Amino acid sequence: MKNSVTIGLLSLAMSAGAAVNTLSVDIDKPGAEISPTMYGLFFEDINFAADGGLYGELVKNRSFEFPQNFMGWKILGNVELKDDGPFERNPHYVHLSYPGHAGRLTGLENEGFFGIGVRAGEEYRFSVWARTTDSDSAKITVQLVDKSSPRTNPLLASSTITIKGTEWKKYTVKLSPDQTLDKATLRILLAKPENSVDLEHISLFPVDTWNGHENGLRRDLAQKLADIKPGILRFPGGCIVEGADLPTRYQWKNTVGEVENRPLNENRWNYCHNNRYYPDYFQSYGLGFYEYFLLAEEIGAEALPILNAGMVCQYQNRPDDQLPLDSIRPFIQDALDLIEFANGDTTTTWGSLRAQMGHPASFGMKYLGIGNEQWTEIYPRNLEMFISEIRAKYPDIKIVGSSGPKSEGKEFDYLWPEMTRLGVDLVDEHFYRPEEWFLKQGARYDSYDRKGPKVFAGEYACHIKDRKENHFRPAILEAALMTGYERNADVVRMTSYAPLFAHVDGWQWRPDLIWYDNLRSMPTSSYHVQKLFGNYRGDNVLSLTMNEKPVTGADGQNGLFASAVADSNSERVIVKVANTSYDPQDITINLRGEKHKFDSCKIISLTSGDPLAENTLDEPDKIAPESSLHQFNGDNFDATLPGNSFHVFIFSR
Ligand code: AHR
Repeated sequence: MKNSVTIGLLSLAMSAGAAVNTLSVDIDKPGAEISPTMYGLFFEDINFAADGGLYGELVKNRSFEFPQNFMGWKILGNVELKDDGPFERNPHYVHLSYPGHAGRLTGLENEGFFGIGVRAGEEYRFSVWARTTDSDSAKITVQLVDKSSPRTNPLLASSTITIKGTEWKKYTVKLSPDQTLDKATLRILLAKPENSVDLEHISLFPVDTWNGHENGLRRDLAQKLADIKPGILRFPGGCIVEGADLPTRYQWKNTVGEVENRPLNENRWNYCHNNRYYPDYFQSYGLGFYEYFLLAEEIGAEALPILNAGMVCQYQNRPDDQLPLDSIRPFIQDALDLIEFANGDTTTTWGSLRAQMGHPASFGMKYLGIGNEQWTEIYPRNLEMFISEIRAKYPDIKIVGSSGPKSEGKEFDYLWPEMTRLGVDLVDEHFYRPEEWFLKQGARYDSYDRKGPKVFAGEYACHIKDRKENHFRPAILEAALMTGYERNADVVRMTSYAPLFAHVDGWQWRPDLIWYDNLRSMPTSSYHVQKLFGNYRGDNVLSLTMNEKPVTGADGQNGLFASAVADSNSERVIVKVANTSYDPQDITINLRGEKHKFDSCKIISLTSGDPLAENTLDEPDKIAPESSLHQFNGDNFDATLPGNSFHVFIFSR
C-alpha cells in the first residue's frame, strides 16, 4: 500500500513526470555503530557565554580584580580599595566608611553583565565576605533597584545583613524582587553611616539554578543543552585554550578549588573582528573545570577537555614564536594532573581536591584533546611528547589531536598524516565554511581511511557569505552535512557545532547556536537541527541509496542529502532527509527487508518559506520543528518535501 504525504508550507501533489527520488534503506543489515558521542556540544567563553551567560553569577567584577578595580561598580560616598584580603589569589576588597557628613551615603552599585536580570517572585542569593573594622557589629543594606527610568519607588527588593566581628566571614541573604526587570542594579549601602566594614567577593545568584547548585548555572541555558541529549561536552574552547598570549592561556588548575580564590584571567575575546571592544570581558573562572565535568555528567555527555599543547596562539603571535621543547614539561604535567583530578581516587592529590569540591566519585573522563587550532611542525613535535607520557600513565585515555583551523588545504594536508603517524585516537576538524562548500561535502568522509584515527568534527557552522546570521538556510546546509557524518559513523565519531552561546548585548562572533539576554533565551534553526540529530541518533547506520546510487548530494540527486539509522532499543528505523534545493522534491522511502514491519511513521519537519527567517528573543518559536503521525502499512512511504527543508522520518511498529 502507498502512503502519500505533503509536508510543511507547500501543498503539492506528486505530479506526473516529476522526478521521484527513491531512498532505499536496507533495514535488515545494520552497519557501523553510531557512537553515543556522535552529536555533542562545544563550549567556549566567547560572546559572554560563561560570565554573563551560562554561569549564574549576576555580579560583574565581584572580587575587584579587574585591572580597573572598580569596573562594573559605581562608588557612593567613602569607598577605598585594599589589597590584603583573605583570598591570596584575589587580594582586593573594599573598605566602606563614614561618607563625610550625616546626610550622605556610603556604598556601591554593580551594573551586572549588561544589567542584572531578575524575575518577580523568584529568589536571589546575595553573599559577601565581610568584617567590621571599628565596632562589634555593623549593618549593610542590600537592594535590587531599577535605575532605568524615573520612578517613585525604584526599589525591587531590599534586605539587611548584620556583620559581626572583625574576622572575615561569609554572609548570605535572599532577595525576592517584586517586579521583573532585565537590567536591574545591585546596591549595597552602609546602613548606619558611622559604621565601617570591609567587603569582598560580592555575589548574587538566582536560587533556582540548574539542578540547584549554589555556584550554579543559568537554568534555561543548561536545560537547552540537556535537551539536545548531547554525547560529548567539549570545553573550554576554542582559542581560549591558547589565550591571547602564554600568560593568558587557559590554565585549568586556576579554575578549581574555592571560587573566591580562583584568579581572574583576561578573556581572549575581549576584542574581536567586528571592531567591537569589550574591555570588561574577563574570566572569573567561577565556571571552571569542576563545573564543566559536573555539567557533562548531569546532561549525560562525555567530558572532552581541551588543553594547551605548550603553544602560544598562532593567530595572535608569529606562528614560529613558540616555547622550546624542553619548556613544555609543565604543560604535560597539567594534562596528567587533570586526568588525576577527573578520575583519580580520593587519596591522590588532585582526586582529593575533586572530593573536597563535592564529587568523591570519579568523573570517568575518557577523552582529552591536546591543542586547538595549531599548525607548523611545532605542534606534532609537542604532541608527540604529550602522547608518550599520557599513554605511559593512562593508556585508556583517548587523545584528540588537531588538523588545524581549516577544512582542507596545506595545513590540513600536513597535519592529518602527522596525526596518523602519532596515532591519536581522533582528529579535530573545523569548518566555518560557506554554502557552496557545504553543498560539496556529501562524499567528504566516503574516502577516509577506515583504519586511521577517527574524526571529531569539533567546530563547524555554515557561514553564508556577507550574512553571518542565524537564519534558516544555513541550518538546512548543516543538516545536509550531518547526514554525511551519520552515513560515515564508522569514521566520524564526534561532532559539535560552534560556537554555542551568545549574549545579544555582547557578542563577538556569529552565527551561534543559542542566543539570550538577561532573562530570555532562544533556540536558533541550527539548534533545532542539532537537537533533532541528538534526539534521533539511532545506534547503527543502515545502508541507504538514492535511485540505487550512493547518497552524496551530487548532481542528479536534486539537492537531497540523507541518512538512515536503526534504533534498536525502540526497534525504529529513522531516515533523515535535507532538501537543500529551493524546489519541492518528491521522495519515496523504500524500506527493504523482512525483519520489521512498521505500521506508523512520525515525521518531524523543520521548514520555512523564507530562507532568511530567523528566531528572535521576541519570537523564539517562529521556526520550530513540527510533527505529524501517519499510518504506514507497507514498504514505501511517499512524501513531498518543500524546498529548503529538513525532515526526520521515524518508522515504528
Ligand atoms: O568558535 C570560535 C573560534 O573559532 C574558536 O575559538 C576557534 O577554535 C575557532 O577559530
